[in-house]
Amino acid sequence: MNTTSASPADLVILGGGSGGYAAALRAAELGQRVVLIEQDKLGGTCLHRGCIPTKALLHAAEIADNVRESSAFGIKATFDGIDLDGVYRYRDGVVTRMFKGLTGLVAQRGIEVVAGHGRLVSPTAVAVGDRVISGRHVLLATGSRAKSLPGLDVDHDRVLTSDDALRLGHVPASAVVLGAGAIGCEFASVWRSFGAEVTIVEALEHLVPLEDPASSKLLERAFRRRGIAFHTGARFTGVKTTDHGVTVSLENGTTIEAELLLVAVGRGPVSDGLGYEEVGVAMDRGYVLVDRELRTNIPTISALGDLRPGPQLAHVGFAEGIFVAERLAGLDPAPIDHDNVPRVTYSRPEVASVGLTSTAARERYGEIRTATYDFAGNGKARILDTAGAVTVVAVPDGPVVGVHMVGDRVGELIAEAQLITNWEALPSEVAQLIHPHPTLSEALGEAHLALAGKPLHSHG
Ligand code: NAI
Repeated sequence: MNTTSASPADLVILGGGSGGYAAALRAAELGQRVVLIEQDKLGGTCLHRGCIPTKALLHAAEIADNVRESSAFGIKATFDGIDLDGVYRYRDGVVTRMFKGLTGLVAQRGIEVVAGHGRLVSPTAVAVGDRVISGRHVLLATGSRAKSLPGLDVDHDRVLTSDDALRLGHVPASAVVLGAGAIGCEFASVWRSFGAEVTIVEALEHLVPLEDPASSKLLERAFRRRGIAFHTGARFTGVKTTDHGVTVSLENGTTIEAELLLVAVGRGPVSDGLGYEEVGVAMDRGYVLVDRELRTNIPTISALGDLRPGPQLAHVGFAEGIFVAERLAGLDPAPIDHDNVPRVTYSRPEVASVGLTSTAARERYGEIRTATYDFAGNGKARILDTAGAVTVVAVPDGPVVGVHMVGDRVGELIAEAQLITNWEALPSEVAQLIHPHPTLSEALGEAHLALAGKPLHSHG
């Protein structure tokens, strides 16, 4: 092995996904010399196999639904089916434009990108082939990959991960989706809009089981109306594949026949074979352990994103990347508050939330106050013909600690709710804000008006 750089870089980053590239951009902006190592394409899962391509599919799916439903708005249009090649051209066009933008930005900031498979070889160095790249600090940002279940063989033909589902050359006639987290619900939503018969199997009692029970129930109602079948509280016992499809078995004796099975039971860290253990990085079940400041047990090594235990969200990766870059540059950034990160499942309807669910708030504070504003009373929701609601959770005589929303486009509303929970605003303070009319955001205002004891279009 030989070392090509005479002097070490300030920061060597292993992995160019959301967290890794955000750290690189911010560190470079702060005058640090940065080397970013990526074996595939800059942008990682989010840009190439996650957030961006799936949301493009969801948008195409919404257009399909709009065309089908157009007569309800007095518009004559005939739904002639899905041209999946055309959908993929649109989706890939979005990804390509974002990728070009990102590559340009990285080059403009003077970040050295090394293409290849990196391996940690010391507390201050990563090897790529026979080149050893040294840095004062190393950031591990190798992300995650789809998990399966013990004994469940993902054959990438009949039994798929979300990566396979994104590459599928046709719309399946029918599909079973195992797991009702964000990935499961989003693919179920797309495939249903594209015309598939979809059945979701979820081990816990509800769809999106980590969300507020009120949100789960609204999503379940909407999915039922859309003809998406689901089994909750269901124990999956196995799948048999045939030439024609799959037979999925549940513990209660139910069997479900479908063309394919999508496994969406979570994502696990990408950390094996990368030298982490050999160098002595403390790990737990493949996750790299970090403190609040994203430091590993080795002072010169930090880790972030899906690789550490905690939320696996691109926007958290961005924030953590900025945080690490600022800390290493000697600034004093505030650690990330993982409890107050907005979450969005972009199915139709969308589910968005920030802060504590009513269940978690009750556990923490004992007594709580909640107010729900149903979109049925909101003019814009009526115009869009979307059902759903906004629920606000507050401590009695205290601040708002959680906001939960279901409905079309609510992902765009949750940022305001984030300001409310992060600034620990009182319901009466939020109730003073004037929301533009007619917008969906008024539902957030109405829920706070109700909590503040002065309901306008609701009974409080
Ligand atoms: P997840 O952990 O969110 O959901 C997996 C679901 O599978 C859980 O509800 C779990 O109870 C269920 N499950 C596990 N084992 C099961 C079994 N044997 N039978 C039936 N159900 C079972 O994981 P998901 O949806 O795969 O997503 C992975 C990660 O990526 C998550 O952290 C998610 O938040 C993130 N992500 C976020 C998106 C977004 O923000 N819109 C979109 C896609 C992924």
